[in-house]
Formats: sequence, structure tokens, C-alpha cells
Amino acid sequence: MTLTAAETLPYQDSSLPIPTRVADLVARMTAEEKVGQMLQLDAREDLVDIVHAKHAGSILHTSPERLEEAHRLTAQTRLGIPLLVGEDCIHGHSFWEGATIFPTQLGMAGSWDAGLVERAARATAIEVAATGIHWTFSPVLCISRDLRWGRVDETFGEDPHLIGELASAMVRGYQGDGLDDKRAILATAKHFAGYSETQGGRDASEADISQRKLRSWFLPPFERVAKEGCRTFMLGYQSTDGVPITLNEWLLTDVLRGEWGYTGTLITDWDNVGRMVWEQRVQPDYTHAAAAAVKAGNDMIMTTPRFYEGALDAIERGMLDEGELDAAVARILTLKFELGLFEDPRHPDRVRIAAEIATAEHHALNLDLTRRSLVLLHNDGLLPLDGGFTADAGGRAFPGVAGARRVAVIGPLADDAQTQLGDWAGGSGQAGWLDGQPRDMITTVLDGFRSFAPADWTITHARGADVLTLEEDPAGAFFPDGQPRPQIVVPSAPDEALIAEAVAAAQAADVAVVVVGDVIELVGEGRSTATLDLIGGQIALIDALAEAGTPFVIVLMASKPLVLPASAQRAAAVVWAASPGMEGGRAIAELALGLIEPAGRLPLSFARHVGQLPIYYNQIRGQHGDRYADLTQAPAWAFGEGLSYTTVEYDRLRIVDTELAPDDTVRATIELRNTGTRPAHEIVQVYVRDTVTSVSWADKELKAFRHVDVEPGQIVTVELSVPVTDCTIVDAAGRRIVEPGEFELLVGPSSRDDALRSAGFRVTAPDLKASPRS
Ligand code: NOJ
Repeated sequence: MTLTAAETLPYQDSSLPIPTRVADLVARMTAEEKVGQMLQLDAREDLVDIVHAKHAGSILHTSPERLEEAHRLTAQTRLGIPLLVGEDCIHGHSFWEGATIFPTQLGMAGSWDAGLVERAARATAIEVAATGIHWTFSPVLCISRDLRWGRVDETFGEDPHLIGELASAMVRGYQGDGLDDKRAILATAKHFAGYSETQGGRDASEADISQRKLRSWFLPPFERVAKEGCRTFMLGYQSTDGVPITLNEWLLTDVLRGEWGYTGTLITDWDNVGRMVWEQRVQPDYTHAAAAAVKAGNDMIMTTPRFYEGALDAIERGMLDEGELDAAVARILTLKFELGLFEDPRHPDRVRIAAEIATAEHHALNLDLTRRSLVLLHNDGLLPLDGGFTADAGGRAFPGVAGARRVAVIGPLADDAQTQLGDWAGGSGQAGWLDGQPRDMITTVLDGFRSFAPADWTITHARGADVLTLEEDPAGAFFPDGQPRPQIVVPSAPDEALIAEAVAAAQAADVAVVVVGDVIELVGEGRSTATLDLIGGQIALIDALAEAGTPFVIVLMASKPLVLPASAQRAAAVVWAASPGMEGGRAIAELALGLIEPAGRLPLSFARHVGQLPIYYNQIRGQHGDRYADLTQAPAWAFGEGLSYTTVEYDRLRIVDTELAPDDTVRATIELRNTGTRPAHEIVQVYVRDTVTSVSWADKELKAFRHVDVEPGQIVTVELSVPVTDCTIVDAAGRRIVEPGEFELLVGPSSRDDALRSAGFRVTAPDLKASPRS
């Protein structure tokens, strides 16, 4: 029955306060409608069942056509409660054909630029909101720990401070000035918490992690965005100490709701409630699992359709009181009222879709962010490929061409447009309704050289290697929950003909640019890798190019840090481009050609060998020796590293006042001198070392960073500050405290000890507690 205007009920009256409307609506709902309101179901399934039979409050993975159908069905329901529509729009509007696809989160992190990340999230929100989606499952705040994990690309890297800065920027970008803004969308902090502490990199394995370790490094970014108003949190897949996160009372009730006072909405990850039954086998059936999930404080249950019968059965059997659903239902309805969905359900808007998706402004922003995300790891001086100044056919001033008029662009990823977009985009497989993004929206490295090298240069191409083929897993095409099981990767053998063609192309050129890395089958959920080596014919290709005699540049277009073969040491330069998105090839070509300055810095460490894992920079002090018998422990490239086309010296680190009380701020200055001939965009990194701690602790931790432009010959004095309250450790009881005593301020262009200037300061007052908890 549809109500007429004359029969307007309190919950439909937009002049009433939201809590009044919520209370009125909850009081009208049946147990079935309440249970359904807590469900988020996969819109690729039967929509009549989802909307009419199960009364679902939310859907995800919705193609544009099915979204219209879902709204049509919702309009026929008794109470007309609008649907909340969620999607993984995690580096752009991932599954909308023709949307702007940015670098992956890890790629964005290479820029260390919260301003650009916030703008990218704002642009994403504008594109997403126009298409009728209200909620993105982003950002990821997991700390990258084991590089074999298939989801490293979704993180902001390995450092809690950098993650906190970038994640909070992203949340601001998505949520804008408030949910009543029609161009704002809900952000999700995920995956709460400790999911990335995998065993051997295996996705969603038990997270063997102590409460102290969580408080020390894994929780601080979540605490920050919780307090800054991120409206939803998604729980991971992991169990800890035998308890699935869905039921982790300490994390959900004591820490998140209690200590942090979080009032936002919690959503489970995919079928977490079902997994407790069929995978982890810690609940005997869906009745028990549903009751336990509600009692533990979960608000929205993602894609466990059997939660519906389970929860109703639990109510029927007296295991769950219907009133116990009310808090969760009220939180979900509050989001819907705050978004204004009862007045305007925010259906796809054709006019805005035409006007606001992939605009020139978003394209320019994407290009800026991509340029800043690229990290130059090694350069013997070959880059940039210039030798004087000239002008191209269009009269554009161009840094020169003297030695390099013929460039061979080689490698399996040199012209692979969809792979360049990375996971959670277009053709990566999570959405069933599109194969990829339009080819003409993507600039590959080959396209980039063809378009941006001077008109009289010759650009040739050879593929050089295959990466892999796929085989069906004998265990079957689907997991027990109906999710597709990834196929088995079979590395391709080196192909002599392809290699010979590539070597010939290199030998006919002045420079070879070889683009290697990983492909989508080696990235993502359930696709962790045992090795970090280049797969398939790629190592043989680099080996052959190293012998070919032509100087070569390696572009590692890889979702995560990989290990390069020994022959890569003969490369003239190495650039890392982490799944760089639609503008990747243009930005890479511009960087190689010297049209832009390299500015990215590593948001995580590169291993030399998979056996060095975990390799993050902020390791805890204390072990026998400092190396393996057969290998150094030093990373190939450390957190924070990245070169420019000039040299910048850091000198004269001075701390203004070296005796400090707990409420003081460490203030310091350092001089940067550009001693080369090209401009530098430096990221000045500030680490703190607590000299003696009452419990073992990280040897140094990033506490601040600043972006500084330094022109050739210029000396810039940079002011730095770190509040003493940030110079904390977490003690044995899990309390975050500042311990009085000696500290070192370490400032420089990377986390490497030999790159850092040091100055001491002392915290004098006794018993300085920053806060009782992290
Ligand atoms: C599972 C993933 O772990 C999560 O990150 C994602 O948001 C959901 N699936 C929805 O696709």
C-alpha cells in the first residue's frame, strides 16, 4: 500500500528531527523488516528475493540497469525505505565505464601528498554520486606487512603515520562538507583491524597479533579517522586469538565504541557471518552465527543471505530479542535520513553523469597525481633522455634529444592498457558487467612515448615476453559460498622468438625502455603470491637486454614491490609505477623524457629476496646480529626513498629548544640546498628515535613530513615540528605513553640511517602520559 500525502507519517516528515523519524520508523517495522534492513546483498543475484522477500536495506555490486530495477522494486515495499547502495570505488569509480581511474591506493601513496589524495577522493565522490551510489568501501587502512599478500596494492604502504595522513584526506574527500551534500558519499575505513598481519601472506588467514601490537601500529590510523568522522567501518576477514573479528568484543565494544566513542556504522566483510559456519566452523549453524553477530554489535551484514532466516530463527527460539536489532537498524536508518534518501533517494542522474564523469578537470587531476606517484629508484644519469633543448613539431619547448632519437619500448606491460589500471577497476573481475575501460581513455607507456617524444624520434615496440596462462583449479571453479575460485597461474616459459625480437629492437635503438611487472591474475583477494620474482618470460627478457649492449631503463609496473633479477643491476635506471591508472603511460613517458621531475617516494620497502620478509623499516630493536648468513637484511630500496633529477643536500639540522615538557612541541629547522641543475620536489621526512625505552620498540618512526620545492642553486630553510605527545611508545600494559629521557630527531630524504641528519632533545618532566590508550 502506498501512502498519500495526506497520510504523511512522522518518519516521512522531513521537518522532524532525525532521531524522532528513526524512532517512529523502527517502531513500525516488523522483525522481518528489521532483519532485512541489516542485510547488504549482492545485486547480481535475484533482486525480487533481495528487495521483496528479504527486505534488504542495502545492495552492492549493482550494474546501472539493475540499480534502476532495484529502486523500482523498493518503491513497491510497505514502508518505502530507500536502499543504501554501496560499491568498491577505491581508486576512482572502478566499475563505471568511462569513469576516471586513478592510480591504486599504493600508487597514490607514492605521492605522499594528502592534498592530491583528498582531491582524487573528491573527484571520485562526484563521479560516484552522480551514478546513484551512496557509499564507497574505501579507504583501506591496513598496514602492508608481508609483500606476498595479494592486497598490498590496496594499502597506503607500511607506515601508520603516512597511512593516517592519507586515509584521513581520502575520507574528507569522499564525505565532503557533510552527507546532505548530494556530491558526498559515505567513506569506509577498512579492514578493521589486523587483517594484513597474514600468515605467510596468505589472504584472510588467522592474524597472529597481540593487543599491544595492534595498539602500537595497526590501530592508530583507524582511531584517527574514527575521531575525524569516517561514517562507516568494515571489519576484515581475520580471526585473532581464535575469535573472528565479527565477534571480537575487545576491538568492537571496548576499543572502537568504548575508548574511541565511535558512533558510526559497522559492516562485516563479505559473508563473514557465513564463514563462521562453513569456513572457520566456530558456529554450528546460521541461527547461532546470526545471533552472535547481532549481539557483538555488527550493524550491516554483507552478503550472508542466510542471515535472514538465521536471525529470525534465533528470535523465534528466544536466542535473540527483537529489540536487540534496534540499535543496528537505527544506525542504518540514520545514515539514510542524513543522506536525505527519504526525500531524494539519489537515483542515477543522467544530466550529472554526462556533465561530471571523466571531466577535463578530473583528467588533469589524475595526471598530476600519477606524475607525483612515480618513484625513480635508480638512475646512472641516462634519465632524463635529453641532451639539449629543442622544440617539437608543434613548437613546444622540449628538453633535448641529442643522444636518443630511437627508443625501443619493450615488454609485456608496455602496451597493456587494462593491466595498467590495476585491481578493482574495469576488467579486474570483481564486477560482472564490464570487461574493461575504453581503450582510448588509457595511455600506455608505448602510447606515451609515441605522443610525447619529439616528432623526429623513432619509437619501436616489441613485446618480449609472455607472463602467464591459467588453468582450472582441480578443487573446482567455486568456493563453498559460491564465490569464484581463482584459476591457477602457470608461468609462461621464456619465448626465444619474442626475446630475439626484443633484443633486435633494443640493438636498433639508442635506448630501450622495458616495462615489466605483474598482471591482474597475480593481484587481489585470494591471489597472494609465493614469490616476488617477475613471472614468466620477464626475467629472461631482462637478462637478454642486459647483454644486448643498448642502455636500458626498467619500468616496474607492479601492483606491489617485486624483486628484480641480478641482471637488472645493469639497467641504467629503474622506475616504479604501481598500477598507475589511465594516465600512467603518459606520466611515465614524461618522466623519462624529462618533461616532469621525479617526485614520488616509497610508501613501503622493497625486498631483495622474498626470504627477507617482513621487511618494513620500523622494525623493533633487538636480534642476534643484523644480517642473514647468506644475505644482508638491508632492503633493495627503503621506505621513503626516491630520486630526483638533481642532488639535494640536507644540512644544519637545528632544534630550537632541546629541553622539552610534555605539552611542548619539538621545533627544528634544516637547510636544503639544490646542488644540481634541475628543480627538486623534496619530501622532507622527520623520524623520532626514543633512545632508551622501558619495553622494546621500533628503532625509529616517521612523525612528520613536508613537501618542499627547491630550485637549482637555491637554499631553503625548512621549519619542522613534532608535538612531544607524538613521541610515544606503547608500554607492556598497552598504554600509549611518552617516556621522559633522550630522543633523536632524524631528518632527511628517506628512512635510511645514512640519509638522515640527527639532533638530540630531551623530555624532562616525569610520568608524561599522552593518553591512556592508543
Ligand atoms: C571483500 C573485500 O575484502 C572488501 O574489501 C570489499 O569491500 C568487499 N568484498 C565488497 O566487495
